[in-house]
Amino acid sequence: MRAGVVTPGQASSGRVEEIEAPTPGPGECVVQTLEIGICGTDMEIDRAEYGEAPPGSPYLILGHESLGRVLSVPLGERELKAGDLVAGIVRRPCPECCPSCADGQWDMCETGHYTERGIKGAHGFMSERYTESPAYLVRLPQDLRSVGVLTEPMSVVEKGVDQVFLAQRRLHWVPRRAVVLGAGPIGLLAAMLLRLRGIQVTVCDQVEPTSPRAKIATDIGGEYQNLAGTSLTAFLSGKTLPDLIVEATGYSPLVFEAAQNLGRNGALLLTAVTGGKRTVGVDANVINSDMVLENHIILGSVNANRDHFLMAVRDLGAIHVLYPLALEALITRRIPLAQWTQGLTKEPGDIKAVVEVQK
Ligand code: BGC
Repeated sequence: MRAGVVTPGQASSGRVEEIEAPTPGPGECVVQTLEIGICGTDMEIDRAEYGEAPPGSPYLILGHESLGRVLSVPLGERELKAGDLVAGIVRRPCPECCPSCADGQWDMCETGHYTERGIKGAHGFMSERYTESPAYLVRLPQDLRSVGVLTEPMSVVEKGVDQVFLAQRRLHWVPRRAVVLGAGPIGLLAAMLLRLRGIQVTVCDQVEPTSPRAKIATDIGGEYQNLAGTSLTAFLSGKTLPDLIVEATGYSPLVFEAAQNLGRNGALLLTAVTGGKRTVGVDANVINSDMVLENHIILGSVNANRDHFLMAVRDLGAIHVLYPLALEALITRRIPLAQWTQGLTKEPGDIKAVVEVQK
């Protein structure tokens, strides 16, 4: 069978390899891969900035945003059946099985020795078939076939937003206004989730208000603000400051500007992994005093556990009913497996490129 692979540590090594089809181990399902989403992490891995092959393997099968169809289930399996649509969970507990991993919170692994399918020490889902234990598969309703590949990025958003709400239980917090920085897939999914919770959302980016990204933001009842040639501070000056800011641009200096533009008791959620080096001067006293005097929190969030995947399936379903066109418009390009590496290069107008492994 064919698989989309890279050689971690070797830039631009993305290619298709013919590999042996996997045989299911005890208790494992066989899944036919339908679609794989490509994200910034995949591009970083292909630039040799990140990623790790499984021990002893010369390559890493890429792909952590997956949609598949169950071909067979192990004897005695009650939850899943052949024909079900599924998304694969990305992270696996550390071998030490730290208290967080033991509790199913591998997204909070304490040792850092976790593995992630398609990213760190474990093969991903971009092969025609893969095997997996039902514990790491979540079932999707059949009517999410066209957008189910967004389950993994949505799970990452769900975790971040859930963490903010959990942390904000320290006070009486009813967020009314949110600003989302970045109209990429994570930013737009976050905006959709916040709209679902009845929060006013302004999505900021540097694209024209007529662009498809901006249109998605307004189609879900949010606002769009083009920050090209201006700044977040200038835009928010004189306005009621947001209760929540979600940073999803990957431009790290914006984190510090966002910290200075939070409303009282507000939360700043950071979702982007920023590789490389970037140094900026910050107004440290002001940021510190604001945080202290206004009870701010800044919260970083990575990955997602099974609960977040289940939340993602539930909320994608609701969003698909409320804003079907906006949700489907996030996927701007579908590429056959044979040409999957084309997805590693952003094209004008791209929001989410998806590899079509099986139609
Ligand atoms: C993935 C997460 C993963 C993170 C760090 C992201 O692209 O969505 O599942 O934990 O990269 O490896």
